[in-house]
Amino acid sequence: MRARLDHLVSSALQQGSAVPAFTCYDFTTALAVVSAAEEAGRGAILLVAPKTAASPNGPRLIAALRGLADGAGVPIAVQLDHAADPELILAAVAAGADSVLVDGSSLPYEDNIALVRSVRADLDGRGNADVVIEAELGGLAGDEDRAFGADAAGSAPAAGLTDSGQVEDFVSRTGAQLLAVAVGNVHGKYQGEPRLRWDVLQDIAVRTRIPLVLHGASGIPAEELVKAAAMNVGKVNFNTELRTGVLAVLEERVSAHRADGENLQALLGQWGDAARNFAADALRTLAR
Ligand code: 13P
Repeated sequence: MRARLDHLVSSALQQGSAVPAFTCYDFTTALAVVSAAEEAGRGAILLVAPKTAASPNGPRLIAALRGLADGAGVPIAVQLDHAADPELILAAVAAGADSVLVDGSSLPYEDNIALVRSVRADLDGRGNADVVIEAELGGLAGDEDRAFGADAAGSAPAAGLTDSGQVEDFVSRTGAQLLAVAVGNVHGKYQGEPRLRWDVLQDIAVRTRIPLVLHGASGIPAEELVKAAAMNVGKVNFNTELRTGVLAVLEERVSAHRADGENLQALLGQWGDAARNFAADALRTLAR
């Protein structure tokens, strides 16, 4: 069944847990995530990256994921991730996304607020008041679709931690329903050990009641994700580790399946298994 993302996250937080969100570039991965969620009896979120959404078949993928969510045995939400282009957002919502991360984090503070407000107004004006908006405050280093670390040459803009002093003003003026934070988390691989700024996260958590979102979860130890969930982080985004697992299977198995009569079906089965195992682990970790 499809679920409103904010309701899914709030009910997880009430039980002291968080909901994992997984970037899906394809239907096989999404199917694997939904199967893992059904096996775990827990909700999950299917993320569509902005470049995927903007690709020629992006709207069809979103529509397919929405169909998958509608038919799932557990609550599933479909979210357009990190979008700053209002046209792309409206197209993704028309295709079936029921939530969007309106990402104005690279803009000056007031422009970030103005972007979120204008997307909200656009959505409401088109009868999409039920579309849930996540907004982002602070800059997240790293590449959304590729696993370069934060410091890899050319891969990342300068990152800035979320300024906790801006949180109350930002949340009330944007009307955002979830807040993505930058507390030392990065997209892609961490250079060395991740060092989350628990002091900053704690400070943010006492300043707003809306659920917080931790992007860049790949590489963060399980116990730290659990600790974050206790600080009002109700949604945790994974991409890099999921891709790594799938790519390892492809690398290892593709020649065997080629030799086995070009057996694409078996290869897709193993692709799905890798994604399902990863999602199952994340679901277990965050259920604690
Ligand atoms: P990672 O690729 O670091 O897991 O981050 C994923 C993410 O935050 C998607 O929004």
